Amino acid sequence: MAVTVRQLMQRKQQSQPIVAATAWDYAFANLMDESGVDLVLVGDSLAMVALGYSTTLPITLEEMLHHAKAVRRGVKQALVVCDLPFLSYQESLSQAIHSAGRVLKESGAEAVKVEGGYPAIAETVARLVQVGIPVLGHVGLTPQSVHQLGYRQQGKTDDGGEKVLQEAIALEQAGAFAVVLEHIPAELGRRITETLSIPTIGIGAGPHCDGQVLVTADLLGLSDRQPPFARVYANLRQTITQAIAQYAQEVRTRQFPPERADSGR
Ligand code: KIV
Repeated sequence: MAVTVRQLMQRKQQSQPIVAATAWDYAFANLMDESGVDLVLVGDSLAMVALGYSTTLPITLEEMLHHAKAVRRGVKQALVVCDLPFLSYQESLSQAIHSAGRVLKESGAEAVKVEGGYPAIAETVARLVQVGIPVLGHVGLTPQSVHQLGYRQQGKTDDGGEKVLQEAIALEQAGAFAVVLEHIPAELGRRITETLSIPTIGIGAGPHCDGQVLVTADLLGLSDRQPPFARVYANLRQTITQAIAQYAQEVRTRQFPPERADSGR
């Protein structure tokens, strides 16, 4: 049975960690789903890992929709959540409803994610939830604010930690079904997780969160560099470049194709 927003929310009470990972196309979405991931995030990090931009800022709603549709086709079980990209929801409540509505209607994703806390974003979350759109919040390091925050750990001081906590509380009060906590001290991750009644999904936020999310290009070793909190579970960059180099060498030395066609397919 496919994972629902309601089921994910219950995981907190059941103390069952939520497993989330990103995907940007049909093939990876299908692999994520077959591996038993609970939540597949069409994160706007795809701007960097799949489209080669240096930040997430340039990606458009149209591009996110294109990728979300492909991901949706690859997923049968997991919940699909799609990021609203920079400036597709910050201008006005009606812009946010229009963008989030398009994501649900056109891509088939079941929820959207927005970055930031209160007051403006909490108001946006409340309005989206009112019209029936489930929202995943995202506080701490918010990459859409890279030109203000950089990629530094957030919430390190007492004031900074309090701000992240209050933003997470505001998102819960606004009706978010869960909150991503990115790159904050583990102790703050624990405090927020204990304070909220909705699940927290951490990325670089320590082991106490109710779930974890990683950018799949990082966990599979596809990116040329990973953030300090990522764990690399495979070195696919090396595996793939070795395979392609071998193919190139065999073509150049006329070892491939063989005299008699391979009957492998
Ligand atoms: O865009 C993304 O991949 C994300 C994750 C880092 C949570 O927002």
